Amino acid sequence: MSSTRSPYQLSDLFTARTRTLIPPLFGAVTTAGPELISLEYGLADPTCFPRDDLLAATATVLAEDIESLNYAPTSMDLVAQILARLQAQGIAAERDTLLVGYGSSQILGLLPGLLVEPGDVVLIEGPSFLGAVHQFATAGARLITIPTDADGIDVEALEAMLIELQREGIRPRFVYTIPTFHNPTGATLSLERRKKLVALGAAYGVLIVEDDAYVDLRFEGAPLPSLAALDSEGWVIRVGTFSKILAPGLRVGWAHAHPDIRGRLAMLKAEGSTGSFLTQLVARYCADGRLERHIEALNVHYRRKRDVMLAAIDREFPEDVQVTRPAGGFFVWCKLPPDISATDLLPYAEARGVTFLPGTSCFADGQGDDGIRLAFSYQPAEKIATGITLLGAAMRDLREK
Ligand SMILES: Cc1ncc(COP(=O)(O)O)c(C=O)c1O
Repeated sequence: MSSTRSPYQLSDLFTARTRTLIPPLFGAVTTAGPELISLEYGLADPTCFPRDDLLAATATVLAEDIESLNYAPTSMDLVAQILARLQAQGIAAERDTLLVGYGSSQILGLLPGLLVEPGDVVLIEGPSFLGAVHQFATAGARLITIPTDADGIDVEALEAMLIELQREGIRPRFVYTIPTFHNPTGATLSLERRKKLVALGAAYGVLIVEDDAYVDLRFEGAPLPSLAALDSEGWVIRVGTFSKILAPGLRVGWAHAHPDIRGRLAMLKAEGSTGSFLTQLVARYCADGRLERHIEALNVHYRRKRDVMLAAIDREFPEDVQVTRPAGGFFVWCKLPPDISATDLLPYAEARGVTFLPGTSCFADGQGDDGIRLAFSYQPAEKIATGITLLGAAMRDLREK
């Protein structure tokens, strides 16, 4: 390179929509240090990764199909396994409705390319999984937040917003929802609201993007029908992942959608297939009922950690902190009393040796300072209990300051 200084700035080449980007979540993940217990991120518990079975599956795939390391198609065995799981849930999934991707994040990131022109309205839940929401925002979507409560998205508020937008001549592109064991609230959408949500999608011609990342991590109670199972017209796009039930590092997720949507999403996916080796590995691992047995074991494990967290919260937090009691998933959500703000609490918590996700990181519109998300997925039970004790102490520190 010559030593002449260029008169140009690199950053002048960046698009307007990338100038306001925030750093990616997982570049900055802190799991724990000797001095800090992180309850911040929903990482999988590494003690649950099925190392031996994955090693055996890796050896088999490489022995039987070395071409899996080439540019090669997605494993049709995996496609068949995902279809069988979806069909068992009453979803009319077929080969032409299923797209496998590098994690559900990839598929959520493809959606705006198909559906969103800059300025188009996308409806999101407040709070929500900002990893997905951020991808919609980056595409230039105008985000409108719909409130949620203990039963999930407020469908009455959603309907009111749809009516208002219709009056203005605006047709939102989609509603992004996490109906089961929500990230971050842990809430599960009631059956009544599920039916209403699907009906609203059809009535207003708005797609419903159902992100069911946590649906299999059910610790108690009977499963509810997925939105996709309630939809007969193709207004629901259902997104799923192996990240929570096997390993996020494998990066395998999928979408079930109307064939017209699925086909176009596949065309947007520049690399065509999704890793032949990876998808064969996952298919080989999952065969013979192994995945279902693994999920059962995960549910016993994560349920215990949830219980440890909830018991510690009951013991250690001030009584006026309201806590959700999720029946599955990775997260507990706490609503703080008016004199404790999440952002004020964070430095006190870190000084005590614990960290959490402030609710403001879960809203796209600045709300959420009255909430915190606590992940029970990653830390061992003893550290969860210690972390909650420290957080309770930090709340008292803040009150007494
Ligand atoms: C609701 C939700 N959807 C999607 C994802 C991302 O999953 P994947 O690893 O499949 O990209 C997460 C991960 O935290 C999540 O919480």
